[in-house]
Amino acid sequence: MRHKTRHRGPVITMMWNTALEVRTRVAVGAGARTKLAGTLAQINAGKRVLVLCQPSTAVHWLRDVLENLPGEDFKVTTLEVPDGEACKTTDWLFRIWEHLQERGFDRRDTVIALGGGSVSDLAGFAASTYLRGLNLIIVPTSLLAQVDAAIGGKTGINLSAGKNLAGTFFFPRAVLADQDMLSTVPRKQLIGAIGEILKYALIEETVAKTTDYEMGPTPLIDLLEKIIQDGFDVDDPGLSGLITSCIKMKLYIVARDPMESGLRRILNLGHTLGHALEKVGDFKLSHGEAVGIGIAQTTKLSVQQKRIDKAASERIKDLLFRAGLPHELPKGLNKDEIVATMAHDKKRHGDNIKLVLPQTRLGVVDYEVLFPLADLNKLV
Ligand SMILES: NC(=O)c1ccc[n+]([C@@H]2O[C@H](COP(=O)([O-])OP(=O)(O)OC[C@H]3O[C@@H](n4cnc5c(N)ncnc54)[C@H](O)[C@@H]3O)[C@@H](O)[C@H]2O)c1
Repeated sequence: MRHKTRHRGPVITMMWNTALEVRTRVAVGAGARTKLAGTLAQINAGKRVLVLCQPSTAVHWLRDVLENLPGEDFKVTTLEVPDGEACKTTDWLFRIWEHLQERGFDRRDTVIALGGGSVSDLAGFAASTYLRGLNLIIVPTSLLAQVDAAIGGKTGINLSAGKNLAGTFFFPRAVLADQDMLSTVPRKQLIGAIGEILKYALIEETVAKTTDYEMGPTPLIDLLEKIIQDGFDVDDPGLSGLITSCIKMKLYIVARDPMESGLRRILNLGHTLGHALEKVGDFKLSHGEAVGIGIAQTTKLSVQQKRIDKAASERIKDLLFRAGLPHELPKGLNKDEIVATMAHDKKRHGDNIKLVLPQTRLGVVDYEVLFPLADLNKLV
């Protein structure tokens, strides 16, 4: 049969404009986890629910969370994935897809991530790809996941060539960030999150100027210093305010620029070096530790470039030191390898890389710096 061409003129181009709708219910505060059943009802979810947990959350929190999901209303299954980065693999992604398929999940059904950022990254990727998208609810249980990983809709798994190389943008229907759940987080993990919180402190004024985020009476950097000085305890009354500020900041940034074409790059402060340190150091440094070093070195670069005074850089170093976090490159890491890894970063633009640099004072950054790849050795 001959094919009849309908359109015979020159090639036509059609623009199809869509307004990306980012709508996520975020509950923050002690007891937020008890809102799970109510949230499922609010989003009109189907009756099948898969709870993905990790060994620690299976021990400490799974029963509690299941009690919030009445069995007579929901068909709940659970799957425990390995701890840390070991779950962000194609192997675990397939296992989840198969689990969903064998139990007949449809597009109204829900995946709940109960764990740190590695579980929410994996759960988000699985939920976004199975049947082109199930409901996703995140119950972040680590401090790092509450202030950062659970918010903003980035999902991902690792490939042998690098971290988060396969992923999607997919916004959870709800995030329930419950401070009570931090009571069981090991101290080292808790402290590691300070790296990400410091990032928010250092971008706060710029975010307030660019979005509807409003700064509180005390700048985040001062609040963070005080909580560290008081021992950085999960029961510190200031901690919940700190978590809420970070979440609000990220929500405002992501609402303005969901797909990272401009403002959202601000969240990469310290991450170009941080990611390279994680990779070259075989993930012996935690994400937060690596980001902390990345921020300290980036601030030093700002001092070299006369963007900010030396006292600012000393303040960052001191804050990390008091928290018990590293602020310098670990000995023994190959600096050439670190520079080469940074040059392959996703933020590369030809012979330059987009960097976020502290500018003028702590709280203000320039997030559009085009930095020559040839000068990346100045960061190490
Ligand atoms: N998607 C994003 O926007 C984004 C942002 C930042 C980080 N991340 C990702 O997040 C991951 C790091 O997050 P993380 O630090 O939460 O890692 P994680 O999920 O590996 O958790 C860290 C450790 O804390 C334990 N843990 C978590 N909650 C606990 C609890 N309540 N009680 C006891 N132990 C608990 C875990 O078992 C694990 O050993 C990385 O994979 C990183 O790439 C994603």
